Amino acid sequence: MTTPAITLSDGHSIPQLGLGVFKVDPAETERIVTDALEIGYRHIDAAAIYGNEEGVGRAIAASGIPRDELFITTKLYNTDQGTELAHAAIATSLEKLGLDHVDLYLIHWPAPSRDLYVQSWRALEAIQRAGQATSIGVSNFLVPHLTRLLAETEVVPVVNQIELHPYHQQPEVTAFGASHQIATEAWGPLGQGKYPLLEMPLIVSVAAAHEKSSAQVVLRWHIQQGHIVFPKSNSRARIAENFDLFDFELTDEEQSSITALERAGRVGGDPNDSK
Ligand SMILES: NC(=O)c1ccc[n+]([C@@H]2O[C@H](COP(=O)([O-])OP(=O)(O)OC[C@H]3O[C@@H](n4cnc5c(N)ncnc54)[C@H](OP(=O)(O)O)[C@@H]3O)[C@@H](O)[C@H]2O)c1
Repeated sequence: MTTPAITLSDGHSIPQLGLGVFKVDPAETERIVTDALEIGYRHIDAAAIYGNEEGVGRAIAASGIPRDELFITTKLYNTDQGTELAHAAIATSLEKLGLDHVDLYLIHWPAPSRDLYVQSWRALEAIQRAGQATSIGVSNFLVPHLTRLLAETEVVPVVNQIELHPYHQQPEVTAFGASHQIATEAWGPLGQGKYPLLEMPLIVSVAAAHEKSSAQVVLRWHIQQGHIVFPKSNSRARIAENFDLFDFELTDEEQSSITALERAGRVGGDPNDSK
C-alpha cells in the first residue's frame, strides 16, 4: 500500500506518513526500520543526534528497495551549526546512512543563542546545490526565526518540523508556514505518550465509532489536517497499526472536536531555549 504524498514547494514530493526513530535504541534500529519497510513505510525521519543513522542505513541497504522509492530525512544538530561544521555533518550523516544524498535535510533547532542558523541555512543551500540533499527545511522554527531566515537568505524552507499534537498545535507557526508554502511536519504526533491523549473519552469514543484504535484516530486527524507525520514505535504491531490509516475518515465534526483540545500544552523543549 502506498501512502498519500504531499508536493513540496520545490516540486519534490514526500510521503505524508513515515516512521520516526527518535529514542530508538541503535541496537534495535535496523530491526525496527526493517519492520517498517516490510510493512510498507517508505519515509524515515532520522537525525544525527539520535545516534542511530547507521542502523537506518543498514536497514535501507538490506531492503533492496530502489533508492528513488525511499524518502530519507536527517537533521543538522545544534553543535554542528556554522558553515564548515554543517558541511562536515552532512558528509558524516551520509556516510553513516550509506547514501549519496538524503531527500530532506533539516536544521534541527534554531538555537538562537548561537546566532548561527542563518549561516547554517546558507550552508544547507550549498549542500542542496551539491546534490547531497534534494530538499532542505527547518525544524522547531518559530515565526521570528522563519521571518529572519526568509529576509536574509534565498531558498524558502520546504518544511518546518514542529512539535504538534492535539494539546499543542502552534496555529501561528502553521499559518505563517501555509502563507509561505512551508509544509508542516508534526513531531510527537501522539504527544510522545507524555499525557493521556489516547485515553481521553473523546478520542476513545471516536475510535469506537470507527472500530479503530485511539492512536489511529489521532494520526488520522493529523493526516486530514494536512500534516506530515512519522510516529515512532518499537513494536512491529504498533508500527503496522500506525500505517493503517487510509480505510476510514473522520467527520468534520470529529475533526473539529479534536482540534478544540488545543491548550498550548508543549511537552518538548522550547525552541527559544534550544542551545
Ligand atoms: N525535530 C525535533 O526536534 C523532533 C523532536 C521529537 C521527535 N521528532 C521526530 O518525530 C518522531 C515522532 O515523535 P516522537 O517519537 O517523539 O513521539 P510520538 O510518535 O508522538 O510518540 C511515541 C510514543 O508513542 C508510543 N506509541 C507509538 N505508537 C503507538 C500506538 N499505536 N499505540 C500506543 N502508543 C503508541 C510509543 O511507544 P512504543 O515505542 O513503546 O510503541 C512512544 O512511547 C520522532 O521519532 C522523530 O523522528 C523530532
